[in-house]
Amino acid sequence: MNVRAALAEGSGALGGSSPGSPFLDAALLLGLALGLERDRVLAAMPDEVPPAALRSYRAYIGRRCSGEPVAYILGYKEFYGRRYSVDPRVLVPRPDTELLVETALRLLPRPGTSREPRCHDAFTGSGCVGVSIAAERPDVEVSLSDASADALELASANARALLGRALDAREGDVLSAAVGPFDLIVANPPYVTKALTDELLLGGDAEPRMALDGGELGLDLYPDIAAQAYALLSEGGALAVEIGEEQGEAVAAIFRGAGFGDVTVHTDLAGSDRVVAGVKHAVRR
Ligand SMILES: C[S@@+](CC[C@H](N)C(=O)[O-])C[C@H]1O[C@@H](n2cnc3c(N)ncnc32)[C@H](O)[C@@H]1O
Repeated sequence: MNVRAALAEGSGALGGSSPGSPFLDAALLLGLALGLERDRVLAAMPDEVPPAALRSYRAYIGRRCSGEPVAYILGYKEFYGRRYSVDPRVLVPRPDTELLVETALRLLPRPGTSREPRCHDAFTGSGCVGVSIAAERPDVEVSLSDASADALELASANARALLGRALDAREGDVLSAAVGPFDLIVANPPYVTKALTDELLLGGDAEPRMALDGGELGLDLYPDIAAQAYALLSEGGALAVEIGEEQGEAVAAIFRGAGFGDVTVHTDLAGSDRVVAGVKHAVRR
């Protein structure tokens, strides 16, 4: 069987298991089996696929059909221009989360305007948000936390691989492990409703429940995040969190209730509410 026929077979089998991208997923998985990057796979359409690679490819397609994310099968996911190791200990980084990184980079003090700025990435998972910030702004001291020791292990490995150095990474609930004061706190907490989480996991999604389930409305963690972040931020410091597309108003209200000013809701490329940010202003006496 040649590459073209293998891709047709694989993308046909994937169909609904890879909504929107069965051909792309098939090309990535065939590339894994052949030891080639995706572009090289597409350039090799007439070539024969060796029998051992074809067996591996079909096994990968089977795993994908059972609901395993392509990123877990590949062992990596690209995020903000870098390749992060991922496995079932962590959520697969989503392209939407790049907006959280962009918002964070806008909120940080400009280089050279203050002492070394400090930023904390809570709910770090693979570390993709905090490591991206540290890579884009080497002058910023970035720390990470997560309630999952397994996730922190992977986040730390990603930091070492991508930055060539370790980041301070601590285990703890919400922001309990973070040692302030900070100029910026970022968080992408679990915000999927419990009902949708149950549906996703029943459908074969292999991601950790604790990375998805945000309670009945998906909003369970935001009040604690806002209250704890407010206590940990310097005056003028900011909090930015990722949200579900229907949570903008509710999370903005939680921010205001916790004392934040200049609360803004930012939309992603699809036009959906995706990030809420707020600033801790000096208290007027
Ligand atoms: C939605 S994932 C975000 C991962 C990563 N920051 C990203 O953007 O891809 C949420 C993360 O929060 C962690 N988590 C869940 N509940 C937590 C809690 N109560 N306190 C701290 N971390 C928690 C999970 O282990 C998971 O790694």
